[in-house]
Amino acid sequence: MVTNPYPSDGTDIARILDDEQTRLRLDRSGMFRLVEAFGAQCREAVELSRTYDPGVRRGEIRSVVITGLGGSAIGGDMLRAVASPYCDVPIVVNRDYGLPAFVGPQTLVLAVSYSGNTEETLAAYTVARQRRARMVCISSGGELSRRAQADHVPAIGVPGGQPPRASTGYLFFPMIRVLEEAGVLERSLQSDVAETLDLVDELSQELKPQVGFQENAAKTLAAEIFGRVPVIYGTADYAGVAALRWKTQINENAKCHAFAGTFPEVNHNEILAWEECRRQARRWVVVFLRDAEEEQATPRMARRVAVTRRLIGRKATQTEVRSRGSSLMARLFSLIYLGDFASCYLALLNGVDPTVIRGIDRLKAELAKLK
Ligand code: PA5
Repeated sequence: MVTNPYPSDGTDIARILDDEQTRLRLDRSGMFRLVEAFGAQCREAVELSRTYDPGVRRGEIRSVVITGLGGSAIGGDMLRAVASPYCDVPIVVNRDYGLPAFVGPQTLVLAVSYSGNTEETLAAYTVARQRRARMVCISSGGELSRRAQADHVPAIGVPGGQPPRASTGYLFFPMIRVLEEAGVLERSLQSDVAETLDLVDELSQELKPQVGFQENAAKTLAAEIFGRVPVIYGTADYAGVAALRWKTQINENAKCHAFAGTFPEVNHNEILAWEECRRQARRWVVVFLRDAEEEQATPRMARRVAVTRRLIGRKATQTEVRSRGSSLMARLFSLIYLGDFASCYLALLNGVDPTVIRGIDRLKAELAKLK
């Protein structure tokens, strides 16, 4: 059960987030260690990717589908966001048992399941095989890797033993390699990868637990969100992916509700919900995830954000963060990584272990009992 054991006093929150004993007591499974070492994981994933042969050749592919769920699907959204601007073919993310009707022999299906045992992904794998799609499986083992081996489907094995959502580097970078090998990208993304790796290392130094509350953007964000319902808005396509990641990380790590949306879509529906929500939104906080160069690069988007912020006014607390880096990939990772840390700090304030996901485990166990 999530309890809020701490008084909502800024000083206490700062003290709790800076206290190593509190962190060690709650973070029994070592999520902070994994988040801090994310840069090393990304570097390892890039190195491992160089050794894979995805078995897909240039000119064979007309569409790409990434199929997976939860922590294994978000890498697909990330891939779509950073690769689509340079990709000759559509990239679609699928989170279901089935696959869209267009999937066929000229579709590259990337079946991604960190555990290798997610039933929806295994079902989609079967459908992809029936449709004779080109396939690459990515997992740390489990049934997916067993089936891939038996069916002679190319498979990428990634290091196992950690939560899927803490393995985004392992799951994301091999997909970049696969797209490059498939020849569907107009340009290599390797310079983006290099920038991203350096930026993640830099951010790790800024956001790690040893950096005190006043200087640590992830801790101050967690403090702003604590005790409130966060509504995360991404003000660009890639920032919308980051917003979804923030939402799911807050759900899974901090065990509390969060909602995500993307501009400009929210301007066509959700904006109205702010008109009459004074009572409802008293304990909400809106976090805008914005592009570093929004005002110069997309002035109309900046104007949309300004108008929306005015409309929300004092009905809810508002805060914003800016992406960093120059490539789309680096900017996306900068927002995602900040949210990963913030969700873990929020877990400490909520008094919960960020790693434990009893609800998901229980649901999977119940489903496993059904034939
Ligand atoms: O973060 C998690 O643990 C979940 O969202 C899982 O990723 C999800 O349940 C799917 O499992 P897997 O990633 O092993 O396919």
